Amino acid sequence: SGTVAFHGEHQAGITTPAQDRLHFAAFDVTTTSRDELVAMLKEWTAAAEAMCAGRDVGEGGTAGGPAQAPPSDTGEAFGLPAAKLTITVGFGPSLFTDAHGKDRFGIAAQRPAALADLPAFPGDALDPERSGGDLCVQACADDPQVAVHAIRNLARIARGKANVRWSQLGFGRTSTTSTSQSTPRNLMGFKDGTNNLKLEDAGALAKSVWVAPGDGPDWMAGGSYLVARRIRMLIEPWDSTPLAEQERVIGRTKGTGAPIGREKEFDALDLEATGPDGSPLVDEKAHVRLAHPSTNGGAELLRRGYSFTDGTDGLGRLDAGLFFLAYQRDPRAQFVRIQTSLAGRHGDALNEYIQHNGSGLFACPPGVRPGGWWGEGLF
Ligand code: HEM
Repeated sequence: SGTVAFHGEHQAGITTPAQDRLHFAAFDVTTTSRDELVAMLKEWTAAAEAMCAGRDVGEGGTAGGPAQAPPSDTGEAFGLPAAKLTITVGFGPSLFTDAHGKDRFGIAAQRPAALADLPAFPGDALDPERSGGDLCVQACADDPQVAVHAIRNLARIARGKANVRWSQLGFGRTSTTSTSQSTPRNLMGFKDGTNNLKLEDAGALAKSVWVAPGDGPDWMAGGSYLVARRIRMLIEPWDSTPLAEQERVIGRTKGTGAPIGREKEFDALDLEATGPDGSPLVDEKAHVRLAHPSTNGGAELLRRGYSFTDGTDGLGRLDAGLFFLAYQRDPRAQFVRIQTSLAGRHGDALNEYIQHNGSGLFACPPGVRPGGWWGEGLF
């Protein structure tokens, strides 16, 4: 069902129309050798290029190698189409400097100021075992087996040099990144992605998604910063909430996705509009009001999140929610700005029904040219 070009000016998997499935993994680098890390990134690039083209990893692949050695590809995607697989890599703050501020691989001076650790937000309940990471890999595809195969083979190549720190499966996209896509619904049953940045709007992408030359160190020009947040939804209280209250919390209607008081999904969201009694149509604490660019000095994000359900929590509740992924040119001016408006008891009305329990921040370098490798400008 189609391939997405691996090479290009930007990494695939950012503005690529959001595929249906996700496997995301954050890695801790265990080697202290810069050469080993570079060799691994080169091997990752070659493997990713093959997988995104629908080919096996390595020369022998699944079943063509010597009988005495483990196959170079784990095999579960053998015979499957590429399913629009994209593999996107990012570098976390901890790759540059360790907890004591020590330069780990001779790249500390190349750490962009925009890759500043995220602040703690009120209401955060972050689990260290679901947060951070020296490297991240986002694999998206229309077939879950293809996405899982991609992460598994990169983890296998990394063995002895990097370990998976945490990972997340996503089963359904919660965003549109192209006007060619219809808007999906998140697990709260609302259309999600209506007012998202779209790949057709090149001006907005240049302003808000792609790092420009001069923004920081040269190696990030053409790249983008990724913020990942595992946001648990408190499904049971949400499901006992009346429809009108659910719509007040989000600021849009549940059926069509139209702004409150309007008819169609893409009708303009007018935050100044008032009802017959003079009160604002969109509640003062509605999610779309507090997340809107006009509330945040013009800040916007390219959202690319996925729904997750990781079984139950042992207390009879679903462990489900939104694995929020957002790309941007500078997290300090974008995610941090918007999340500062949303977070806390006096912020977003949605906070009563959600909890952030995982977090990651990564600098995703520009795209790879034929013959190049991930991170070649950095090392
Ligand atoms: C809009 C849901 C978390 C930023 C929306 C919309 C929904 C929604 C239903 C309206 C449709 C749309 O325009 O896409 C959720 C849920 C969340 C969540 C269920 C948590 C589980 C976040 C977070 C941020 C964020 C953490 C950023 C820090 C935005 C932005 C918009 C939006 C920027 C567009 C606002 C506009 O310009 O109209 N969200 N969201 N959301 N959300 Fe969220």
